[in-house]
Amino acid sequence: FDLTDIHRPQREIEEKIDAAARILTEGGLLAIPTETVYGLGANGLDGAAVRRIFEAKGRPQDNPLILHVPSSQWLPRFCEDVPPLAYVLAARFWPGPLTMILRRKSVVPDETTAGLDTVGVRCPNHMVTQAIIKAAGVPVAAPSANLSGRPSCTCAADVLEDMDGKIDGIVDGGPCQVGVESTILDLTCVPPRLLRPGGLPLEELEAVVGEIVVDKAVTGALAEGEKPKAPGMKYRHYAPKAPVTVVVGSPEKSAQVIEKHMGPASGIICFDEYAGLFAGHELQTLGSYTDKSAQAQRVFDALRAFDATSVTEIYAQCPDSRGLGLAVGNRLKKAAGFHIIDADARRIVIGIT
Ligand code: TXA
Ligand code: MG
Repeated sequence: FDLTDIHRPQREIEEKIDAAARILTEGGLLAIPTETVYGLGANGLDGAAVRRIFEAKGRPQDNPLILHVPSSQWLPRFCEDVPPLAYVLAARFWPGPLTMILRRKSVVPDETTAGLDTVGVRCPNHMVTQAIIKAAGVPVAAPSANLSGRPSCTCAADVLEDMDGKIDGIVDGGPCQVGVESTILDLTCVPPRLLRPGGLPLEELEAVVGEIVVDKAVTGALAEGEKPKAPGMKYRHYAPKAPVTVVVGSPEKSAQVIEKHMGPASGIICFDEYAGLFAGHELQTLGSYTDKSAQAQRVFDALRAFDATSVTEIYAQCPDSRGLGLAVGNRLKKAAGFHIIDADARRIVIGIT
């Protein structure tokens, strides 16, 4: 379904939205656009349909899915003991890149929550997808639409690359505006806990919530055998085929460190300002180092692009952790299996893989 052209006749758009909604209500798999990344959706109340998501992605069974809803009015249908703070946050940040973890009601099947007694819920900021969910009348369980372990999909062509022949439809809603997945906040504990940094900066949440505990999995500081609270945070993720090394520190210094380490078959991910240093290399630019929105939009595309090249290793510059930098850096570090060089300290830090 190509729904990128909003100048089509209204009736034609409505027919496509109804057809897309029917795929969901009939138990099928439908890739949907959101402002963060493309999702691979199914009826979140239909255990059999949700099982097909896991098969299509090759996703580990213990990794729960997020339910997508059109408004906070749907929360009491699927969640128990919804705290007032959830409504405050929904009023402020929904539709938008915030997923809240809440206690689930038993209508939400074990397939969706991977057996947990909690469920992640979010309201995506995409008009087409909101219209499809409303037309279907059911919450849509949707992980990111990539094959498990690959970088997330930020356009319909990426979804086709990973899911062609495995799913019943792709809704093309254009490129994703945010480019990294939603921020996940666990509201079942006090103080609330950040389980995954994402498209909504931590600082914006803190301004409303007050104290937020940052889960150790966010920084990669988990000890051997320790389990992150968001099961998905423990997997090596977003990884291109070639191994990635992330170089943190000031951009001048990280560029120097990469220049020193790189060989002829090294691919480079760098800020626009430093592209000139790496002429002749397979190169993906992240945008200006002052423009973290651009970096978020570019990061998955940059990681994905190397799989079509013959690079044997990849070095990446990394933004600082303020604002969207926390999410962009987290995605790069996860792609690197937390193989990190600190250009300021000139020491190599190896965390969990
Ligand atoms: O922006 C997004 O959140 C995208 C779009 C499609 O909405 N979705 C997405 O889904 O990123 P996925 O499945 O790729 O990542 C969901 C993450 C996983 O790390 C999972 O472990 C965690 O959310 N999660 C889901 N339900 C949870 C729960 N009840 N408790 C803790 N973590 C949960
Ligand atoms: Mg994912």
